Amino acid sequence: MIPNLQIDARRLWDSLMDTARIGGTPKGGISRLTLTEADRQVRDWLKTECERLGCTVTVDEVGNMFAVRPGRRSDLPPIAIGSHLDTQPTGGKFDGVLGVLGGLEILRTLQDSGYETNAPLMLVNWTNEEGSRFAPAMLGSGVYAGVFDRAYADSREDRQGVTFGEAVEAIGYRGEAKAGSVQFGAMFELHIEQGPILEQEEMSIGIVEGVQGMRWYEISVTGREAHTGSTPMPMRRDALVGAARLIDRVEAIALEHAPSAVGSVGLIEAQPNSRNVVPGRVFFTVDFRHPDDAALDVMEQKLQAAVEETARKTNLAVELKTVWESPAVRFDADCLASVRRSAEAAGYPARPMISGAGHDAAYVARVAPTAMIFVPCAGGLSHNEEESTSFEECAAGAQVLLGAVLDYDGR
Ligand code: GLV
Ligand code: MN
Ligand code: MN
Ligand code: MN
Repeated sequence: MIPNLQIDARRLWDSLMDTARIGGTPKGGISRLTLTEADRQVRDWLKTECERLGCTVTVDEVGNMFAVRPGRRSDLPPIAIGSHLDTQPTGGKFDGVLGVLGGLEILRTLQDSGYETNAPLMLVNWTNEEGSRFAPAMLGSGVYAGVFDRAYADSREDRQGVTFGEAVEAIGYRGEAKAGSVQFGAMFELHIEQGPILEQEEMSIGIVEGVQGMRWYEISVTGREAHTGSTPMPMRRDALVGAARLIDRVEAIALEHAPSAVGSVGLIEAQPNSRNVVPGRVFFTVDFRHPDDAALDVMEQKLQAAVEETARKTNLAVELKTVWESPAVRFDADCLASVRRSAEAAGYPARPMISGAGHDAAYVARVAPTAMIFVPCAGGLSHNEEESTSFEECAAGAQVLLGAVLDYDGR
């Protein structure tokens, strides 16, 4: 039996709306890139709130934050709950934030009722989940899980040449704890779906059984800058024309592996970006995803072939670099059973699903039993300032998170 505790939906919503002002945009979203001043402010806020609840807050060497509420038994490893507070440059109010503030609401609910769990509970805020300022995504949880080492994380540069190491120190969040030394026995991550399925099927809860595989590439195309008015077409080495052909191929490759595959070019820089100069150099990124790693292998071979063909058929130099690969993940059966029982006990319609987006839980699953809970978002829209999840949907997610944790704790 899951103990009958109710989260405070109003308090959760107010925290979501209040903290959304930190980095808030005029269009109602959040611009809170990792390790910026806005990120520092929201981290400070979280730390204060957790300490107010009597939690001990530890920060590790890559800025991951862990707030522990003791349980009845200190011999048991903590049960972790959490997600990320960083956002895309034009992010919404819920991506990541709901998982952290939903977790905070669990701690507050338990504190209010004086409920003692068996295991300690641990609220986690992972650093740089988004991967927008510093690639790759899920960097903090990746270092935690031993996928990357600290030196690698520290060396990552943003597009201005600032390193991750410099940025984490600049905001005062280089903690003492070695990454991976702050251990827990399981983790539950609540998140918005960031896709349309739950809304279309009128489901309140997604029981997330896994995460699809993801690969990130960077492509540099080099030609030669020249005058647009006086350089005849056959004499040009236009890097942007080469890039355009490749970008078209990225979409075509994804469509060849429909309906499961997706392929995107989200970042492009042309140099010198002047209307009367033939572009001499273009840099762009490719993001391929598929639930099946073997399909991703084939998509990668096709991209490689397209790059070689472009280099062969044009007088451009083309370089392809893999910057990140995250294989498909399956979550833990016991954690998933706790989520299922919790959704059932709370009376919410739920369905199993696979996540299209990357999440810290994908890396954490390598070192601890892990599962995720999804709630719908309007129109499936995310990574957009208009991203929207209702008061009731946020409440349902936090309630199912609480039940899942209590169910797991009482096993
Ligand atoms: C992170 O938000 C990702 O899924 O790329
Ligand atoms: Mn997220
Ligand atoms: Mn995101
Ligand atoms: Mn994400």
